[in-house]
Amino acid sequence: MIEDMLRTPAAVQDAERHTAHNYHPLPVVISSAEGAWLTDVDGRRYLDCLAGYSALNFGHRHPTLIAAAHAQLDRLTLTSRAFIHDQFADFCRELAALCGKELVLPMNTGAEAVETGIKVARKWGYQVKGVPDGAANIVVAEGNFHGRTTTIVSFSTDDDARADFGPYTPGFRVVPYGDLTALSEAVDEHTVAVLLEPIQGEQGVVVPPEGYLPGVRRLCTERNVLFIADEIQSGLGRTGATFACEQAGVVPDMYLLGKALGGGIVPVSAVAADADVLGVLKPGQHGSTFGGNPLACAVATEVVRLLATGEFQRRSAELGERLHTGLRALIGKGLVAVRGRGLWAGLDIDPALMSGREACERLMARGVLAKDTHGSTIRLAPPLVITADEIDHALTQLAAVLAS
Ligand SMILES: Cc1ncc(COP(=O)(O)O)c(C=O)c1O
Repeated sequence: MIEDMLRTPAAVQDAERHTAHNYHPLPVVISSAEGAWLTDVDGRRYLDCLAGYSALNFGHRHPTLIAAAHAQLDRLTLTSRAFIHDQFADFCRELAALCGKELVLPMNTGAEAVETGIKVARKWGYQVKGVPDGAANIVVAEGNFHGRTTTIVSFSTDDDARADFGPYTPGFRVVPYGDLTALSEAVDEHTVAVLLEPIQGEQGVVVPPEGYLPGVRRLCTERNVLFIADEIQSGLGRTGATFACEQAGVVPDMYLLGKALGGGIVPVSAVAADADVLGVLKPGQHGSTFGGNPLACAVATEVVRLLATGEFQRRSAELGERLHTGLRALIGKGLVAVRGRGLWAGLDIDPALMSGREACERLMARGVLAKDTHGSTIRLAPPLVITADEIDHALTQLAAVLAS
């Protein structure tokens, strides 16, 4: 194709012209997608190795999910929670069963699920644990990423995410991720929750040391503190299990879910917990106009049913082995470290060779889309419908980029 006949450069400029520059996207303009493949406005195809930061675990336009969305669009899309709709009960029951919890509270974005978790934990602390009014604290980890609200960025340790957004919400204590001693020292009689990602995604797919999550569970139980697992990115099949916590043999008191729950079609998030925790909320104390809407519930119920088959978790575990074996073979050949689990990997590129951004641009030129995070790290999180051949293709392209 002759370069100056391409539509992409003008389309990139157009997209930037009237937009706040709070993102630095790769210069690619996508117009359609199916499964693990994207097509741009110039008809070039790319293998998706990001999957919308895990929002597309089932691939683009999974036929079952698209059919559910179409059918629901033709019947009912929104009622608000002022009325009950006929998609609500199935969604809540089936998601609660998937989580092994009694109740769920649906919201929209991941950040809203986190905010919900924080509010529920504080109310539980005052009403059930007996913490004096206004004294509750929540312990979180360094390197966390839980979203972008003013409260959530108040306990971020990433300067880009936090600086100049104060005054900050008090009531959070930050301890090093993976350090049980520091966690134990930070917990006191006013601690209502420990809020953690079981694997830190944005930080570069950081897996905590063996025994850490069981240790957190034990500590929370002993000290009467809620263990809140933010599985918004790690959950729903990504790591080769329904939840990353499951692989550590741990059941948190509260799951925070989002991203893949909406099947890559609509924003759907949720908090799942037992009645002794979520039951602290009474009418009027929390809510969302769009949370649990009929379209969201229709799609998310099918997501839960796809997960209930176990097929996607199995694919992620099996194909993840292939991905990680291939990535480990590149250590010393351009990669300095590889972390992760299932179809989820954080790769540290030798910074002497190129930045993560440069590596992603070079991968893009070879038809593979991934995203850098924190300098020289790239995150790979392909849709769980990716095939073994497609993984090999991505690995071949990565090896070529690192060798160039
Ligand atoms: C672990 C985790 N929690 C929360 C969020 C926030 O989700 P959202 O962008 O839907 O608000 C993210 C998003 O990347 C995340 O990775």
